Amino acid sequence: MIDGLPMAFPAEGLPARVRVHEVGPRDGLQNESAVVPVEVKAEFIRRLADAGLRTIEATSFVHPKWVPQLADAERLFPSVFDLADREGDEAVRLPVLVPNERGLERALALGAREVAVFGSATESFAKANLNRTVDEALAMFEPVVARAKEAGAGVRGYLSMCFGDPWEGPVPVATVVGVCRRLLDLGCDELSLGDTIGVATPGHVTALLTALNEAGVPTDRLAVHFHDTYGQALANTLAALRHGVTTVDSSAGGLGGCPYAKSATGNLATEDLVWMLHGLGIDTGIDLGRLTATSVWMAERLGRPSPSRTVRALAPRSTTTASQDSRDSHKEQ
Ligand code: HMG
Ligand code: MG
Repeated sequence: MIDGLPMAFPAEGLPARVRVHEVGPRDGLQNESAVVPVEVKAEFIRRLADAGLRTIEATSFVHPKWVPQLADAERLFPSVFDLADREGDEAVRLPVLVPNERGLERALALGAREVAVFGSATESFAKANLNRTVDEALAMFEPVVARAKEAGAGVRGYLSMCFGDPWEGPVPVATVVGVCRRLLDLGCDELSLGDTIGVATPGHVTALLTALNEAGVPTDRLAVHFHDTYGQALANTLAALRHGVTTVDSSAGGLGGCPYAKSATGNLATEDLVWMLHGLGIDTGIDLGRLTATSVWMAERLGRPSPSRTVRALAPRSTTTASQDSRDSHKEQ
């Protein structure tokens, strides 16, 4: 380690650059028992942008009774939207989740340029999360994707329970491939493969990606979304990178879970991901020190330590950096 950074040892067969799709403000905060004040969420998103994150999933336009933690979407989204209008490389993509036309209307009315629908490979989770069967959920998404595209918005399709389901157990690869194909046929630009309860292992990841390719789904349309319940998220990510995936979802400080799947714990921590990627010589554009300082700051607001191993290892250093930053900005005023 040199000055809080891993030594870089590039390996064969890996991408030169990875796009990190930050889900902390959405997947992370949706699962907090306390509702985080909207000003704190906005500052969290700004700090993530200042740490170099360029895709930050800001919130969800779902029913407020289903996810009360994100009921402030109408206030939060406009308060950070200027980030999307930054010039050139500084511009931040701010995708939001929309389950149905009502959610899409709310998002488009505020200028959202990217939305995500979220389906399930299993009937149990489709019912628990969307109050729909798998087919009914896809039917609900059809006009959402069509209208979003008419409005010029990009559309991501999430698919949950791609590896295992807390009610149904193992999920057959063929089932997952079938629903992925249907999401792409609706017009989704990108698919994010969700290991909602963190049970995947690297061979399983490779098997699913291979089966998707065989079904005509190109790897450049795929992202991976690993929760870290069994400590496999980084190993699974490496398997996906070796397969050619270059978009990886993660959550700052390892925040996260899913309110409708009890066994879902936090997402892969962005800091743990960035430590590995930079160690492999893979460019992310992210400043690990600033990112860690952001997660330490957020952990203080939430009143509990970050579960990320990298945040814990770097925390004293990043706290110093953060207070140094605030001293420096104070001096400049
Ligand atoms: P429902 O109860 O079936 O709703 O819920 P409905 O369609 O029957 O509508 C009932 C009322 O809700 C109506 O109002 C609608 O207008 C209103 P009324 O006519 O009775 O006055 N309504 C809405 N209001 C505001 N915004 C909306 C909206 N939609 C309807 N968008 C529904 C169906 C889809 C709405 C509900 O199930 C829902 O909101 N679910 C969201 C659950 C959720 O957000 N889960 C977490 C995200 S998924 C996840 O975390 C997994 C992921 O990370 C990947 C992974 O890890 O695997 C993505
Ligand atoms: Mg998730």
